[in-house]
Amino acid sequence: MTGRSSFLIVANRLPVDRTVEPDGTASWRRSPGGLVTAIAPVMQRRDGAWLGWSGAPDEDFKPFDQDGMNLIPIPLSSQEVELYYEGFSNATLWPLYHDVVAPPVFERRMWECYREVNERFAQAAADAAEQGAVVWVQDYQLQLVPAMLRELRPDLRIGFFLHIPFPPDELFWRLPWRKELVEGLLGADLVGFQRPGGAANFMRLCRRLLGLSYKGSEVYSEDRVIKAQAFPISVDFGELDSLVREPAIVARAKEIRAELGDPEHVLLGVDRLDYTKGIGQRLEAFGELLDEGRLSPGEAVFVQIATPSRERVDEYRRLRDDIELQVGRINGEHSTLGLQPIQYFHQSYGRRELAALYLAADVMVVTPLRDGMNLVAKEYVSCHHDLRGSLVLSEFAGAADELRASWLVNPYDVEGLKRTMLTAMRATPHDIARRMRTMRRRVSTYDVDRWASEFLTALESPA
Ligand code: ADP
Ligand code: G6P
Repeated sequence: MTGRSSFLIVANRLPVDRTVEPDGTASWRRSPGGLVTAIAPVMQRRDGAWLGWSGAPDEDFKPFDQDGMNLIPIPLSSQEVELYYEGFSNATLWPLYHDVVAPPVFERRMWECYREVNERFAQAAADAAEQGAVVWVQDYQLQLVPAMLRELRPDLRIGFFLHIPFPPDELFWRLPWRKELVEGLLGADLVGFQRPGGAANFMRLCRRLLGLSYKGSEVYSEDRVIKAQAFPISVDFGELDSLVREPAIVARAKEIRAELGDPEHVLLGVDRLDYTKGIGQRLEAFGELLDEGRLSPGEAVFVQIATPSRERVDEYRRLRDDIELQVGRINGEHSTLGLQPIQYFHQSYGRRELAALYLAADVMVVTPLRDGMNLVAKEYVSCHHDLRGSLVLSEFAGAADELRASWLVNPYDVEGLKRTMLTAMRATPHDIARRMRTMRRRVSTYDVDRWASEFLTALESPA
């Protein structure tokens, strides 16, 4: 790619990830997580460029085009991966912003590295943006970029969207660098959150930390007005809806059920292997239903797909061990020859296979302890034009605001979770269809294009 762009996405990761096989062959694969799922279709429909890390340490790649997107790689050294990515982003901010479901680590050298890497991203964006361009900075890894970029390029229109929850101020207050982070975000013209509560938390902090006043969705700094608002992110409903109508996907869904032994109920979990996702809680509930004889092993199969994630961070390593032990224990106690009640896969799948799995599942179990949105819930809904399929959804996922017609659960309440899973399995087809129709109406009208265009329209209109 040559020249400067009028529209830039700046995210920690590129939409593709450089992976090297054990035999040394390297390839680009889709990066994990909801940010890429949401932003990639938006970018494919616009001209512009995406700046981000390739996922490989100590590699400096030239800009390249892939899947209709101009990609500009930003290099990270091994030490930066350790301190900025695994450290401050994923051992400090991630747990702190997710209700401290794991204890956050506070280390000064991680913070210093975070600041340095944010500077590199800001400089790269300043170099790649044409005069007056729109630059859209994404997520918790880059919260200092808006202010750094404004300093370098005051002519730009800068947006920021936080994909994860923004915490209540009593949690945020613990951060030794709380003031710097809020000032970093205030460099944007528009700061977007998943839920109205996140925007409200942010505005209260602006007053408490910096003495700024606010009204409605506007924060007033000395010389500027900054908008802070909720924009619930969504999925490419149309893409999934047409995918599951393809005969090949329908056939694959049937085949999956047959491979599972054609049980009466197929339950499904699809997540990055992350401690915020409540995977242990849902497996515990399923295991107890088997222990108590309220479900028989041939009656229901639980398919749990867990994408490998952040594997060098301690909490993630521990989580993997815990989940694998739990799966082994439940299967050990309840399997019969050729029949395992939990099918666990520590793998990533392509979009087509994932769509077939969603179509094949009778009950989707989404039980995060805290989640900004949770796109998996919306993907499942997008894949059920047949109006079959029940969604069990945590009250603590952003998606619960919109998908009120799901079976809502408190994932900390294992008894409630067991009851709800059984109810969702045994609901009448009429009730299931009614709920699914309501949820589909919401996701089809508020899809990812609508999300992006509402954000960008708000960004481009003066405060
Ligand atoms: P997060 O962003 O925290 O990972 P989301 O539910 O919002 O959570 O988004 C996860 C995205 O990753 C979804 O688009 C989902 O389809 C995708 N995904 C999750 N697990 C897998 C997997 N094993 N293989 C392929 N894609 C996956
Ligand atoms: C979540 C975050 C994203 C992140 C993704 C995958 O969706 O909000 O910013 O990219 O998880 O995590 P990873 O650490 O692999 O990029």
